[in-house]
Amino acid sequence: MATTKASSGAPEDAYTAGPFVPEGAGLAELREAAAGCRGCPLHRDATQTVFGAGDTGARVMLVGEQPGDQEDRQGRPFVGPAGKLLDRALAEAGIDPGEAYVTNAVKHFKFTRAEPRKRRIHKAPSLRETAACGPWLAAELALVEPELIVVLGATAGRALLGSSFRVGEVRGTVLEREVHGRPELLVPTVHPSSVLRAEDREGAYRGLVADLEVAARALTR
Ligand code: URA
Repeated sequence: MATTKASSGAPEDAYTAGPFVPEGAGLAELREAAAGCRGCPLHRDATQTVFGAGDTGARVMLVGEQPGDQEDRQGRPFVGPAGKLLDRALAEAGIDPGEAYVTNAVKHFKFTRAEPRKRRIHKAPSLRETAACGPWLAAELALVEPELIVVLGATAGRALLGSSFRVGEVRGTVLEREVHGRPELLVPTVHPSSVLRAEDREGAYRGLVADLEVAARALTR
């Protein structure tokens, strides 16, 4: 079974969460199953699976990259500094963050440490790890059926729109694409962490809010 192969050092192209995703499950059941996902090796070092948060009636789904240090400890997406900035930007753009379904392309925290017992440093997931986690995202999309997906950064973009995705080319535009076999409306923007790292933080923040305003307008169409 892919389970044991993938978690015991099989080649990366054997990674997949597929066998762990229960068919016909509701959100609570999916979340419970995701807690035991061994579809790729990222579960080994992470504290826990960080599944999406929000309810199935949400009109907008926000998709980030992967949980960060805080999210890994608390078990909820976007509760750290990037999440706080995102909430502020959403509210400013006219989207109630409390009414969105929030999730990540990858459900486990990937990190390195410069030295043992030192701070954990975020490491971007590979394309294979991202693809392996795809069945969870597909199941969330099928359940929530959002009117609009806000794509936060390159990893989420590649997970939803393919490996040729370039955020700079499409940010702040409304895209109509087939995603996991379903027609979806998407607005890509930068990842909120990139705003925190930007030299011109205020300019980067204004850019994020402007993109989210496009999403807010698409929602009221
Ligand atoms: N960055 C993400 O992409 N997701 C989180 O949940 C936190 C930080």
